[in-house]
Amino acid sequence: MKLCMIGTGYVGLVSGVCFSDLGNDVICVDKDLKKIEDLKKGIIPIYEPGLEELVIKNYKNKRLTFSNNLKESIKKSDVIFICVGTPTKKGGSSADLTQIYNAAKEIASSINKFKIIITKSTVPVTTGDEIEKIISKKVSKNKFSVVSNPEFLREGEAIRDFTYPDRIVVGTHEKKSNQIMKNLYSPLISKGASYVHTSRRAAELIKYAANAFLATKITFINEIANLCEQTGINVEDVSIGIGLDKRIGGRFLRAGPAYGGSCFPKDTKAITSTADKFKTNLSVIKSVIKSNEKRSILLLNRVNKILQKKIKNKKILFLGVTFKANTDDMRDSSSLSMIPALSKKGALISYYDPTGEKKEFKKVKNVKFEKDFKSAIRESDLTIVHTEWNDFKSINFKLLLNRKKLTVYDMRNIYSPNKMRKQGVRYFGIGR
Ligand code: UDX
Repeated sequence: MKLCMIGTGYVGLVSGVCFSDLGNDVICVDKDLKKIEDLKKGIIPIYEPGLEELVIKNYKNKRLTFSNNLKESIKKSDVIFICVGTPTKKGGSSADLTQIYNAAKEIASSINKFKIIITKSTVPVTTGDEIEKIISKKVSKNKFSVVSNPEFLREGEAIRDFTYPDRIVVGTHEKKSNQIMKNLYSPLISKGASYVHTSRRAAELIKYAANAFLATKITFINEIANLCEQTGINVEDVSIGIGLDKRIGGRFLRAGPAYGGSCFPKDTKAITSTADKFKTNLSVIKSVIKSNEKRSILLLNRVNKILQKKIKNKKILFLGVTFKANTDDMRDSSSLSMIPALSKKGALISYYDPTGEKKEFKKVKNVKFEKDFKSAIRESDLTIVHTEWNDFKSINFKLLLNRKKLTVYDMRNIYSPNKMRKQGVRYFGIGR
């Protein structure tokens, strides 16, 4: 099939490349000419393991092309995916749909034959109805169909999540569109992916409900971890003990710092804002948002205790600053609140991240990027493991001991407390 992906951010680029790898002809379109030129040279704007090879392979075999001419690209395609950003409105909670509606208007003026228009971006319930209204102003209803097909890609695992999805969700009222979507996804369905056909609004809500539930699950175990710290319990025992119940499931039960990323914070706010608009109070998700927003303060109080309330001039090293491992994404990473707060208290902060120095810390006082994290551990009064990069999992702390005892605050529980204490490290974890 001939596909056009509008937007070459996370969703558009990964989905577009993976669709081309399944044998479709895909045009990835972006307004940003430099981004398009870079993509043509195989320069990938996002850090996603395995993506570069797929881009180069499919660009070479001409199944994948890049363009910044949206009108022409739409005319050449049968299926148009809207993959533009839906960020949280500045100072608010609801999703900013400006880019979505602009794309709809551009599509309306480019339809030359029947098109399926798919929202793959995460959009609030009823957005598909709005898109339909915008396009109907210029195009007769029988020349297009608006379908919801949300993605469930995790950063760092996006290609795997596309190729082996638990489910493909397609929201449409039209039989013909549903059939076309089933054909498009048939290679994945034949490999075992479930195909879920719903109404368009249900598909829109499924995406938000899924992310809100995952955020709730993480916040739940984070709060249980708080109780474990007060009662001398290892939260990992609780995670395993409840996770073996198939109704709960063991994944997304790893306690840690506040969750971050470009989705959970945005989507939990957006779903509660949509519900408020429909006079429905999603009190559980609202409490999840509050709990997560307070989490960094809670962990900083722990840092204060570990340093016996003497933070000024203390050397604190952050191992990892991205919102999770295998990504360079800093959006809503809990390090963005913790590092400036410690700097304000006079700490001397260094950080290392495998994805390099971060512009976000350039203007923060007494914060520097440290290439040689092992010598930085030796010099630090406190080493904080913020992101669970593999690079940190086999450090031999014994070799790093020097005149003073090493103190480690493992916010991701990547180390064994017993082994660390045997290595002579003053060790603190989360919920244990
Ligand atoms: C998420 C959803 O998983 C994905 O399905 C959706 O399409 C986009 O949003 P992503 O934001 O890339 O994906 O990352 P994810 O792996 O879900 O982690 C989100 C946050 O939760 C990170 O800060 C991560 O550190 C945290 N997390 C995750 C935990 O603290 N504990 C866990 O057990 C899992």
